[in-house]
Amino acid sequence: MKGIILAGGNGTRLQPLTFTSSKQLAPVYDKPMIYYPLSVLMLAGIQDILIITRPSDLPAFQALLGDGHQLGLSIDYATQGEPRGIADAFLVGEDHIRGEQCALALGDNLFHGANLPTLLRRTALKMGGCVLFGHEVADPERFGVAEIDSLGALVSIEEKPRQPRSNLAIPGIYFFDAQVTDIARDLEPSPRGELEITDLLRVYLKMGTAELVWLGRGVTWLDTGTHESLLEAGTFVRDTQRRQGIRLACIEEIAMHMGYIDPDDCHALGARMGNSPYGDYVMERARLCKAGMLPPLPLEAL
Ligand code: DAU
Repeated sequence: MKGIILAGGNGTRLQPLTFTSSKQLAPVYDKPMIYYPLSVLMLAGIQDILIITRPSDLPAFQALLGDGHQLGLSIDYATQGEPRGIADAFLVGEDHIRGEQCALALGDNLFHGANLPTLLRRTALKMGGCVLFGHEVADPERFGVAEIDSLGALVSIEEKPRQPRSNLAIPGIYFFDAQVTDIARDLEPSPRGELEITDLLRVYLKMGTAELVWLGRGVTWLDTGTHESLLEAGTFVRDTQRRQGIRLACIEEIAMHMGYIDPDDCHALGARMGNSPYGDYVMERARLCKAGMLPPLPLEAL
């Protein structure tokens, strides 16, 4: 399965931070925002990943992640000149997908939870059509919203409805079959001029091949599109890391856990970060792994 991280857009709600730098490179406590969606794809078992950015931000992403080989990944890049909508990712990424199944992760969404790695891998292995996730929130009008009937079947999907029919928001991680590019090509822009992800999902719903999977209470989902939510996400990461003594979205550790790189490679990546606490952590995890003292997957955290 292929992966796409959509990390473009103008980040207008985060201006002036985003005039000269990408929102998805902004720090969420101790690491760039993109590490979080990248971790999600890695934990789903996806190694072939396309990152879509604004043209002006491309060099910074390339400097940060390169071609991904150091993490046992293959990372390609493409640019989106204008924010034409989330579903446009499948048109920009058509050559990358090349008729395979594909997972799309929004570059500003952060997930954390014990059962998430297993849930993602299981979904990636057994899906047909498309899979969207549902998560209960207090403010569904800010998101795509899924409605279910009394038997739990998905009946409607709406984008930021004024009067939501449920409190089940649709987070920014989706799985699609190989038809997705053809379906995206036939979408019409919405009144706000975008190819909406919810319109794409609705096509699958009409075909009867859209599956809704509940993330459940054990998963925390944060989006980081405003100054307030960015700060909240940073605080969440700091508090969780401090309490548990582990780091969330540590891509070097995840690459080692997934068997994409060995503990020596992981240690070398940590050593490149000199005396930073993050680098020290990466080296320590590599040492523990080599000594057989790390718990096996599923990871308790992203
Ligand atoms: O966070 C989950 C929500 O994300 C979903 O529930 C909604 O259904 C979905 O539309 C989306 O809503 P947002 O208002 O949060 O979308 P936003 O415009 O902020 O874009 C999400 C990410 O995708 C953000 O990192 C910027 C990037 N993006 C967005 C668009 C429209 C692009 O790279 N290119 C684009 O054209």
